[in-house]
Amino acid sequence: MNRILFVDDESSILSGLRRMLRPYRKEWDMAFAESGAEALQLISENPFDVVVSDMKMPGMDGVELLTKVKALNPDSIRIALSGHAEMEMLLESVQVTHQFLAKPSDAEHIRNVISQALALRDMLNDDKLRACISNIEMLPSLPDLYTRVTAIAASPEGTLRDIGQVVAEDISMSAKILQMVNSAFFGLAREISSPEEATTILGLDVVRSLILSVKIFSSCEQASKILDLKKLNDHCHQVGMLAKAIATQEGMSKKACDFSLMAGMMHDIGKLILTTAYPEQSAKIYQNEAHTPEWQSETNIFGISHAQIGAYLLGVWNLPNPVVEAVAYHHMPEKAVDHRFSPLSATHIANLLVIEHRDKLQGIQNNTLNVSYISRFADENKLNQWRALASKILEEAE
Ligand SMILES: [Fe+2]
Ligand SMILES: [Fe+2]
Repeated sequence: MNRILFVDDESSILSGLRRMLRPYRKEWDMAFAESGAEALQLISENPFDVVVSDMKMPGMDGVELLTKVKALNPDSIRIALSGHAEMEMLLESVQVTHQFLAKPSDAEHIRNVISQALALRDMLNDDKLRACISNIEMLPSLPDLYTRVTAIAASPEGTLRDIGQVVAEDISMSAKILQMVNSAFFGLAREISSPEEATTILGLDVVRSLILSVKIFSSCEQASKILDLKKLNDHCHQVGMLAKAIATQEGMSKKACDFSLMAGMMHDIGKLILTTAYPEQSAKIYQNEAHTPEWQSETNIFGISHAQIGAYLLGVWNLPNPVVEAVAYHHMPEKAVDHRFSPLSATHIANLLVIEHRDKLQGIQNNTLNVSYISRFADENKLNQWRALASKILEEAE
């Protein structure tokens, strides 16, 4: 049974949680602590799978507690519980927190957030994944430019303009970003010519994921003997754009739309890692025109797929959880805990539609879209609307 620890200095909040979460006591072993010190004491007796902590507490605050928890049990899931006025603390806690819960949250929401995080952890903690990762000598490290941009973003004085200036120093990155912002997809009336301006238009999350995807693609040079990197890069780009367009049409929040774009841009990144680590076996999978889906062949040979390994890397890099989740489950969305329309749904559907469009151009029959997962959200009519979005984006890309 998973062990969950809740920490809050206000005893009324703690007893509220205790009462509200009673129905789940058969699936979770729950404990409640009124201070960071008490929490650490309980943890030292027996570690917890999940620690949900209030941020603002006298003595040891939430950031300090979760930092200690991370050092003690790196495997544990750390969730920040916070009120609205604590924005600054939340920003501080980003490095040590997996998820955020706003106060007040209802029982079902808390349960969803926790179960989702646990399911993802179990998926990425799989023994086969561990064995596979330990064979990979060097996971690509976080690009320097990304770290710098993130640091500016985290500092209270940092502006998007500053970020644009840092990006401008990197010529290939500036070119990519300008290309993206000037693509027909954004529908801007005029040409944008400076990276500063482009950054302001794209927004921080998008710029960061562009940096990641561009750097990963260029650092996996070796893989180009086996994979057509340009093709894969274009595919990821198209899926990202389409995922965002679908999310927007579904009326998702700006944040969720950006997460969809990020997830789409990085959904197949695991292929680069597998190819770099296992060139011979990967060549067999990726150069084979057989009917078995690639992720299935990967699972047969390596025990895991590019989806899991990509998600693992993004998780290690601390990317937002919805992005990690979308990448992890993009080939099996029905395995995810949350059944509502999410960045995962947008990414999954966009990937299938991009492939369907490509197959159609090549005269290949493709029936993969008739799946029950999609019919949860879309009838034939809506599916055709999404297809139209796909054609628009893909024709512009060509
Ligand atoms: Fe994939
Ligand atoms: Fe894909």
